[in-house]
Amino acid sequence: MNWNRAAVLTLSDKGARGERVDQSGPALVAWLAKHQVDTVAQAILPDELDSIAEQLTNWADADVADLILTTGGTGLSPRDVTPEATRQVIDRPVPGLAELMRLESLKITPMAALSRAEVGIRKRVLIVNLPGSPKAALENLQAIWPVLGHGIDKMRGDQQDCAGRFGV
Ligand code: MTE
Repeated sequence: MNWNRAAVLTLSDKGARGERVDQSGPALVAWLAKHQVDTVAQAILPDELDSIAEQLTNWADADVADLILTTGGTGLSPRDVTPEATRQVIDRPVPGLAELMRLESLKITPMAALSRAEVGIRKRVLIVNLPGSPKAALENLQAIWPVLGHGIDKMRGDQQDCAGRFGV
């Protein structure tokens, strides 16, 4: 794995108003640190499509990180707009990673079907939507972690063939 920079964006109306302590952001930061990834930027925003899209765009276009994790706002309630904001800013979707998150999560809870999470690339940055609870966010991140390292290496321009590596 040739990358080590992440940015973490928490989406929560209550969190942004200071009415709820953000547990998911810090849980993701701690988990990333254990896996040798530095969190170089972190923010909490309300569930507002335009400000989410703007934050994702600013981070990706400034290339502050290789990976942007969002947590929250992927469900079915009217204020859940993280997937829409993500779709608006990505150049290329990576549906397989969202499928893998739901596939593995469905082994834990059928509620996983309620996450509308998107994954996609803007410029040279991978954006991954995770659900809002710390438990769900970590479960989803763990589901894709085994393939994320190689995926981000390739996204950042690694020229090596996949054949013969990773048992493929
Ligand atoms: N995925 C995993 N692995 N574990 C969970 O507990 N919770 C689900 C789902 N994905 C869950 C999960 C629930 S209850 C919801 S409503 C959706 O994620 C959306 O969560 P969000 O609205 O907090 O983003």
